[in-house]
Amino acid sequence: MSSFEWRDGRLHADEIPVEAIAEAVGTPTYVYSATAIRAAYRRLQTAFAPLDAELHYAVKASPNLHLCRLLRSLGAGMDVVSGGELERAWLAGAPMSEIVFAGVGKSDDELRAALDGRASPLTAAEAARFGAPDPAGRGPVGRFNVESESELERIAAIATELGATARFCLRVNPNVDPHTHEYTTTGKKENKFGIDADRIAGVVERWGGAPGLAFEGLHVHIGSPVPEIEPYAEAIAVVLELADELGRRGHPVSTLNLGGGWPIPYTEGAVPPIEAYAERIVPLLEERARGGLAVLLEPGRSILANSGVLVARVQHVKRGRAKTFVICDGGMHTLIRPALYRAFHFVWPAAWSGPAPRWVEDSAAEGGGQGDGLEVCDIVGPICETGDFLARDRALPPMRRGELLAVFSAGAYGMSMASNYNDHGRPAEVLVDGDRARVINERQPLAALLATEASVRELRLARPGVPA
Ligand SMILES: Cc1ncc(COP(=O)(O)O)c(C=O)c1O
Repeated sequence: MSSFEWRDGRLHADEIPVEAIAEAVGTPTYVYSATAIRAAYRRLQTAFAPLDAELHYAVKASPNLHLCRLLRSLGAGMDVVSGGELERAWLAGAPMSEIVFAGVGKSDDELRAALDGRASPLTAAEAARFGAPDPAGRGPVGRFNVESESELERIAAIATELGATARFCLRVNPNVDPHTHEYTTTGKKENKFGIDADRIAGVVERWGGAPGLAFEGLHVHIGSPVPEIEPYAEAIAVVLELADELGRRGHPVSTLNLGGGWPIPYTEGAVPPIEAYAERIVPLLEERARGGLAVLLEPGRSILANSGVLVARVQHVKRGRAKTFVICDGGMHTLIRPALYRAFHFVWPAAWSGPAPRWVEDSAAEGGGQGDGLEVCDIVGPICETGDFLARDRALPPMRRGELLAVFSAGAYGMSMASNYNDHGRPAEVLVDGDRARVINERQPLAALLATEASVRELRLARPGVPA
């Protein structure tokens, strides 16, 4: 299920006991396995090989520079949704031509930096610190995924001003229900994402030949994670029909970007394997891909989620009248998915000598099928919110202060959504590769949280009738 295994009573990431990492860098800490990342990337690549699909890693899933570099070394392009992610992809070594710039609210400044490196917020010296070339010399991003006509108007204006050409795909809202959490449903007509399918042809007619723009194709991303296969097939049917219509109108579609959302098993057997998705999707596109259609994917979760765990240390155990609370130093500030989406993450002690525990959701009801002597508890963090929990009503071996817990499937949308709430520094990140462990992000010190508040700057603002 995961590349993290218990050996000799201790949870290992590749060859390294997680406990040793916690001793060395403290907790809470994200631990990633490079072996698992490589395996997940290759598995996706193999599944979609008949389409010769170009994989663009969705940086938002886990944006650490060193993880991005690892994915670059495997050949991944980068899918970014902000100016910050764009610069990160650049620092990770991605050529601009292999970056797709998506996102629903791109600002003028972000568009400028994506079109012309002279507008990058990074100086040559800053880029050099990370071993990257001077951004000033770079060209425009490979493709924009465009979400609205208003955005297209701004891209055209800025590209013309800079003498650049913006290649773009229009994001289609296919009005398909992906049957996932409402907050991560992105392809229904009431969602803010994409352009309604019946408006796409008109947008292409108006903007397809505009100065500064080059229309390439269509993009669709219906949600994340998408636990069923059919919604993809439905969305693809919508975009293929559109592609044919655009072709007839003289706007050939040369690129089809299917987005991300490929699921992972947060619990045993909960979703079909990626190969089953590919089996259904490949035949829909194979002939067109052979005919020259470029197929892009933007996977994030499916590469990173089960390649990382969050390691937290128990601070206190409180046995109350209604519940037992295992209070640890990881919580909604380190991993917000349980609080935000009521997402399930399997949690188990790092020290465990019993049989491999089962990843089951109703662990309290069934005793988890893990054996006797378990105690039903809520695993919570230190944050002053009742919503601050990592797991509720779980059967765990009785926990004691000082013991370590591993929160599984935390490698995607864990660190990237961590916050400083209640003035906690963000966790450390460690990348394990075989028998080597490296800190790829130091724990954020309190001084870093305070740095932008170190001084006060008077604003001299013009007000009507009062000179500035
Ligand atoms: C447009 C787009 N592409 C790709 C992704 C990555 O999705 P996932 O991490 O589920 O693969 C997302 C995530 O929400 C997204 O919004």
